[in-house]
Amino acid sequence: MEYILNNGLKIPAIAYGTWKFPNTYETSEIIKNAIASGYKYIDTAKAYGNEYYIGQGIKKAQVDRKNIIIGGKLWNDDRGFDNIIKACKETINTLECEYLDIYLVHWPASKAVHDNWREINIETWKAMEELYNSGLVKAIGVCNFKVNQLDELMKNINIKPMINQIEFHPGFMQQDIVNYCKKENILIEAWSPLGSGKMLKKEELKIIANKYQKDVAQICIKWCLQNEVLPIPKTKDIDRMKSNLDVYNFEISKEDMQYLNSLPYLGGSGLDSETITLFN
Ligand SMILES: NC(=O)c1ccc[n+]([C@@H]2O[C@H](COP(=O)([O-])OP(=O)(O)OC[C@H]3O[C@@H](n4cnc5c(N)ncnc54)[C@H](OP(=O)(O)O)[C@@H]3O)[C@@H](O)[C@H]2O)c1
Repeated sequence: MEYILNNGLKIPAIAYGTWKFPNTYETSEIIKNAIASGYKYIDTAKAYGNEYYIGQGIKKAQVDRKNIIIGGKLWNDDRGFDNIIKACKETINTLECEYLDIYLVHWPASKAVHDNWREINIETWKAMEELYNSGLVKAIGVCNFKVNQLDELMKNINIKPMINQIEFHPGFMQQDIVNYCKKENILIEAWSPLGSGKMLKKEELKIIANKYQKDVAQICIKWCLQNEVLPIPKTKDIDRMKSNLDVYNFEISKEDMQYLNSLPYLGGSGLDSETITLFN
């Protein structure tokens, strides 16, 4: 299964997450195994501090560059037009990947920290447009943008974001953002689709998993897909890499989708891009 971005770029429907993997040889082995297990879209970020060994893992997998989607992210410290161009080039150099398929703004400027958050986000996006127009990146998008932040951005830009990567798992669907993005043809990517592992222990989800004879991770991943959202599960374990991709031989019923979509908050990261002050 694939998704087609609003600029026509086709990307695999499930990506592979890399947050918290160390910048070590072990990570390059994990990435090689993930690609051998079938992942064709690797999601990473400068802030994860592991770009070098992610890139080495992709090289070790010996796939044609055009057959793998590499997604990077711009970190908050690199804001400012010239810095952004430089940061993207550095990411490409560190990953040793020639170009990025996808480059995302990792966090919007938060109004809790910046009075001029609108202007910062617009300036940031102008640099993203420049990177896209130059061909260094094949698609551009944002992460963690709420409706108001996206709306303010969209009034002032030339190229619409192709992706908004947000926290999305059962009990935390951020439906207002999802609806806005669907209307605008912006693909939603689900970060922490397993709630960083927290969802896997939830009785509400175990009941559904038992019913379909699947595990809870597979239910969370399939639930994302049936909501037309692209999940980014992460695991270092080879068997789990494979089982997290093995979700195309069953369908969650309409009734069970309604049940899953109506679950109350079951826990999550607690990060809110409008009130965050920690790293903005
Ligand atoms: N844009 C953003 O701001 C942002 C923020 C957060 C995350 N992200 C992206 O989203 C990705 C995913 O989010 P996440 O890292 O929070 O993780 P996640 O995929 O929600 O959960 C990962 C956890 O679940 C476990 N796990 C995975 N598959 C499993 C399975 N089949 N059975 C049992 N346990 C399983 C993993 O442990 P094992 O390794 O031991 O299997 C790990 O502890 C990140 O890695 C990153 O690429 C983006």
